[in-house]
Amino acid sequence: MAKNKISLGVNIDHAATLRQVRGNTTAYPDLLTLVKKIKAAGGRQITIHLREDRRHIQDFDVVHLCKKSPLPINLEMAVSDEMLKIALKNKPAWVCFVPEKREELTTEGGLNVIKVSADIQRMTSVLKRKKIRSSYFIEPSLEQVKASADAGADAIEFHTGHWVLSKGAEKKKVWKQMVEASELAAKLNLRVHAGHGLDFEHCKLIRNLPHLVEVNIGHSIICYSLELGIAKATKEIIRHLK
Ligand code: PXP
Repeated sequence: MAKNKISLGVNIDHAATLRQVRGNTTAYPDLLTLVKKIKAAGGRQITIHLREDRRHIQDFDVVHLCKKSPLPINLEMAVSDEMLKIALKNKPAWVCFVPEKREELTTEGGLNVIKVSADIQRMTSVLKRKKIRSSYFIEPSLEQVKASADAGADAIEFHTGHWVLSKGAEKKKVWKQMVEASELAAKLNLRVHAGHGLDFEHCKLIRNLPHLVEVNIGHSIICYSLELGIAKATKEIIRHLK
C-alpha cells in the first residue's frame, strides 16, 4: 500500500463507549480486533483517551493495548500525576496531553500550556527519559505553540473543532491562524498534528495545512463504520437466524 504523507491515528474511544453502554458485558466490540483491522486498512497509530471518569477507555484497555497492539499507542491524558504514573507503567509510544473537564461531552478546547507550564514541562521530561514522546493538544495560537516548544514538546496537535464547526469568514480566519501556527511550529522543530471533528469533507481541506504529518480521528470513523457496515452486519444476523 502506498504510504500517505499524512499519517492517520484512529481514536477508538467510541468503540469502547459502545461496549461500556452495556457495562462491558459483551464480547463485542473487541478493541484489539478493531486495531488489527485498522492496521490492515493503513491506519498507523491507535489513539485512546483514558478519562478521569473512565466513561469509555478503561485502565485494562490501556494495559492490554499497550502490550498487544500491532500499532503504536498514543495515550491522551490530562496533565495529572495519576495519569503520568499510568503512562510510565504502560509505555505508550506517545502521550498527548489534553485539557479535561468532567462535565464536557468531548474535549472542548485546547490546553492552556502557559497555565500548566511547570507541570507539563516536568512530566514531558520524565516521559522523554523513558523514550515516550509528548504532544500537546492546543488551539492554533502562536503563544501556545511557543509555550509548547519551551516546555519541551515533541509535537503539537491543533484542536480543529472550532475550525470544523465555523463557517464563512470565521472559518477562513481560523484557517489562517492554523497556517501561521504551523509555520511557527515547524520553525521550532515541533511536529504538526491535528484532530477533532474531522470528517471526509474536512480531511480534504486539512491535508493542505503546511507541515501537517499526522491527524487523529475518532468520532467520524466510528460513525462511518456503522453506515458502511450495517448492511453486512444485518445480513450476518439474518444468516444466523436461518
Ligand atoms: N485528538 C485529540 C487530542 C482528541 O482529544 C480527540 C477526541 O476528543 C481527537 C483527536 C479525535 O476527535 P474526534 O473524535 O472528533 O475525531
